[in-house]
Amino acid sequence: IMGSNLSITVVGASGDLAKKKIFPALFALYYEDCLPENFIIFGYARTKMTTEELRNMISETLTCRIDKRENCEDKMDQFLKRCFYHSGQYNSEGDFSLLDRKLKEKEGGMISNRLFYLSVPPNLFVDVVRSASHKASSENGWTRVIVEKPFGRDSESSSELTRCLKQYLNEDQIFRIDHYLGKELVENLSVLRFSNLVFEPLWSRNYIRNVQLIFSEDFGTEGRGGYFDNYGIIRDIMQNHLLQILALFAMETPVSLDAEDIRNEKIASLFQKLTLIMIQSVGDHTKFLNWINETIANDPTVPNGSLTPTFAAAALFIANARWDGVPFLMKAGKALHTKRAEIRVQFRHVPGNLYKRNFGTDLDKATNELVLRVQPDEAIYLKINNKVPGLGMRLDRSDLNLLYRARYPREIPDAYERLLLDAIEGERRLFIRSDELDAAWALFTPLLKELENKKIAPELYPYGSRGPVGAHYLAAKHNVRWGDLG
Ligand code: BG6
Repeated sequence: IMGSNLSITVVGASGDLAKKKIFPALFALYYEDCLPENFIIFGYARTKMTTEELRNMISETLTCRIDKRENCEDKMDQFLKRCFYHSGQYNSEGDFSLLDRKLKEKEGGMISNRLFYLSVPPNLFVDVVRSASHKASSENGWTRVIVEKPFGRDSESSSELTRCLKQYLNEDQIFRIDHYLGKELVENLSVLRFSNLVFEPLWSRNYIRNVQLIFSEDFGTEGRGGYFDNYGIIRDIMQNHLLQILALFAMETPVSLDAEDIRNEKIASLFQKLTLIMIQSVGDHTKFLNWINETIANDPTVPNGSLTPTFAAAALFIANARWDGVPFLMKAGKALHTKRAEIRVQFRHVPGNLYKRNFGTDLDKATNELVLRVQPDEAIYLKINNKVPGLGMRLDRSDLNLLYRARYPREIPDAYERLLLDAIEGERRLFIRSDELDAAWALFTPLLKELENKKIAPELYPYGSRGPVGAHYLAAKHNVRWGDLG
C-alpha cells in the first residue's frame, strides 16, 4: 500500500495571522502527535525569503505548553525542518506550478493530500484559488482550502465570492473558518445542553427569560483600522461569531452529531425562520445601536470622518414555539473596559416564590443565571439562591462554579488547533456551510444597508468605558438587564 503525505501550504505566510496563530497551532498539533507521519508545511507569499528565513520567522512565535517543556526545543527543531518556503505571486499559475513541483519532490510519489490555508485578504481569495486549483491540486489525494472571513460584506458580495470559488472548488473542499466555533466553551455548549437533564428540559421560553451574547475587547482597532473601517463591528463579530453561537444555542436537537445533521439543524431551526427574526432598535430614529469610539478618529489607519461602528447591540427574536417572545440580546464592542466573551442565560422567576419577602422588591435579581464564560478564564457557573448560615433567614446569591483552570489545569488548546485538525481529518462540523453563510448575510444585510444609506452617525463612547448608555435602553426596552454589568 502506498503511504500518504500531507502538505499544508500557508498562503500569506508572512502575515500576522500566519505568524500569530497558524504556525503555532500547527506546531502544537505536531507536538501532540496529531499530524500524520509524513507531513510538510509550505509558506507561500510574495515576500522574497529563503526557507531558512521562514524558519527563523516561525521559530519566534512557537511556544511550548506550560506543562510540557521537556523535549520541546528538539520538537521545535524537528518541526522547523518540515517547513519550507516558496515565494510567488498570488495570481500566477506559473508560480503555483513551481510550488507543485516542489511539493511533488517532497511527496516522493506517495498519495498526496493537500491543504491550503488562505491567510490573505479576501480580494485575493479567487486569484489564489484559481491558480492553486489549476496548478497545485493533488492528483491522487484530496485538496482542501481553508478560508477566513470576511466572506464578502453583504449578501451580494458574499454570493459572488461563493460563486467564484465554486468554479474551482466543490463545497466539500471549502472550509470556512469561524474561529469562535473552535473555542472550548462554545464546543461545550451542546454538551452542556444536550447531556444534562437539569438543563435540557429548561432550554425554552418556558424557563428562559432572556439570553445574552456578549463580546468585548479592551483594545480598539489599532493598526487594523483599514480593514475595520470597511467592515465594522456588526460584520466583524455579530454576523459570524455571535450569530453562530446563537444558532448552536437555539437549534433543535440534531438527529446526530454528524456535521450535516448539525448544520442542517442550525439552518432548519433558526435560519429558515429568517423572515421571522427581528432585529430591534433603540432610540427614536436608529434601527440599531451604532457607535464609534474616540480612538477610531485618532487611529491613523482609519479614514477621517469614518462612520464605522466599533460597538453595536441588537435584540433578536426567534419566532418558533421554543423561543417565542424570548429576547436574544447581543452586544459587541471594541475599546471597552475589559476583554471578555460570554453567554448568559437568565431564567424566569420562581412561580409563587415563597421567599419573595427576602428578596425585597427586585425579584429579577433573584432569578437563576447560567453563565458560560468563553474567555478569558473559561468557566461555567450557575447563580443560585441559598441561605446565609446562621440563625436568621437571610438569603444570598452564590455561584456553582466550574472553573476550568482549577478543574483542568492543562492549558486549553487554541481554537485554531482544533479547526486545523478537523480540516485535516475532513470533519466539517465546525465549519460554515455556504447556505449558513447566505442565511447569516440575509439576516444582517438589510439592516447594514439601512444604517449605511442613512449615514447614521454612531454615538461616541469613551475609550475603556463600559460602552454607550444606549445599550441599556435597548435591553430595558425588552425588560432585560445586562448580566455582565452586575
Ligand atoms: C476576529 C475579529 O474574528 O476575532 C477581530 O476580526 C477580533 O476583530 C477577534 O479581535 C477576536 O478573537 P479572539 O479569539 O481574540 O476573541
